[in-house]
Amino acid sequence: MTYLVTGGAGFIGRATVRALRAEGLDVVVLDSLTYAAHEADLRSIEGVEVVVGDVAEPADVAAVFERFAPSVVLNLAAESHVDRSLEDASPFVRANTLGPWVVARACAEAGVRMVQVSTDEVYGDRDGLPPSVEGDPTTPTNPYSAAKAAGDAMALSLVRSDGLDAVVTRGANTYGPGQYPEKLLPLAAQRWADGATMGVYGDGLQEREWIFVDDHASGILAAARRGASGGIFHLGGDAPTPNLDLLDRWRAALGYPPMGKEAWLAHVADRRGHDRRYRLASERTRELLRWSPSVDLAAGLAATAAWHDANPDFWTN
Ligand SMILES: NC(=O)c1ccc[n+]([C@@H]2O[C@H](COP(=O)([O-])OP(=O)(O)OC[C@H]3O[C@@H](n4cnc5c(N)ncnc54)[C@H](O)[C@@H]3O)[C@@H](O)[C@H]2O)c1
Repeated sequence: MTYLVTGGAGFIGRATVRALRAEGLDVVVLDSLTYAAHEADLRSIEGVEVVVGDVAEPADVAAVFERFAPSVVLNLAAESHVDRSLEDASPFVRANTLGPWVVARACAEAGVRMVQVSTDEVYGDRDGLPPSVEGDPTTPTNPYSAAKAAGDAMALSLVRSDGLDAVVTRGANTYGPGQYPEKLLPLAAQRWADGATMGVYGDGLQEREWIFVDDHASGILAAARRGASGGIFHLGGDAPTPNLDLLDRWRAALGYPPMGKEAWLAHVADRRGHDRRYRLASERTRELLRWSPSVDLAAGLAATAAWHDANPDFWTN
């Protein structure tokens, strides 16, 4: 049984590839190796076939299907940083919307199961609202999440029109070893290591659910194996945490002594349209997939801090 993991050189992709290889399964990665990929780390995982190519390019996807005949496709390839999408949405539309359509078409033609890996951000701001339930209407508020919501709709539409066997996962904010240092936690670690302050958007009280990267990967695999076609599954994490509290805990995990916030953070102008809160109802998913996260925030932050200590040059070589 061969798994094709698109975006397998990225943060969650590499954790997913590691989980599959730990089970002794055959893995092929299709990745265009953008700035967010870590090719050397991917290639350090034994027994993985790596193909450099674009999920939005039908010929690239067809070539992988022809050569490896995958039985399951996990579509993680995406542009993933909201701030970049606010400056130029075009690579996001290509990777996050056109990509899922191209992959879904190839899966439908080959009769192969697809997991479209998506995000809680497609539901938009949940401030003052109850948690999003699987299948609630999507109301994205930035080009990243708008392109992801459209990509999910592409895959789900082919379930109806082409008999595609597909599920969608919508995961919470993910953290852990090996994340590209433009995201909150690795960027803060880098800034503090340089003796600088960390810029925090607005009042810093935006709330996110956080899930450890290996738990996100195991949730994707649970959906691949146990999710009924056409289903949407929520991979939620711990209770929503305000960014300032998270950074406070992250500093402690990294071993910094307690210090007034003014010493380590600087409030900067808020992101345009910044959502205050994401919140997923995950109970139904947990029951249907017989899956739940195994690493809580305290343990996950400690593990991530230990990794940062041991790998200070990961993103410089
Ligand atoms: N990181 C999070 O907090 C989070 C939360 C929920 C969902 N997700 C979703 O999980 C998936 C993986 O996220 P990540 O954090 O690992 O992202 P990432 O940015 O670390 O990695 C994305 C990978 O996709 C590759 N890629 C980009 N465009 C491509 C294209 N057109 N063709 C082939 N490969 C391409 C990149 O080279 C990179 O290796 C994404 O779909 C993202 O939307 C992420």
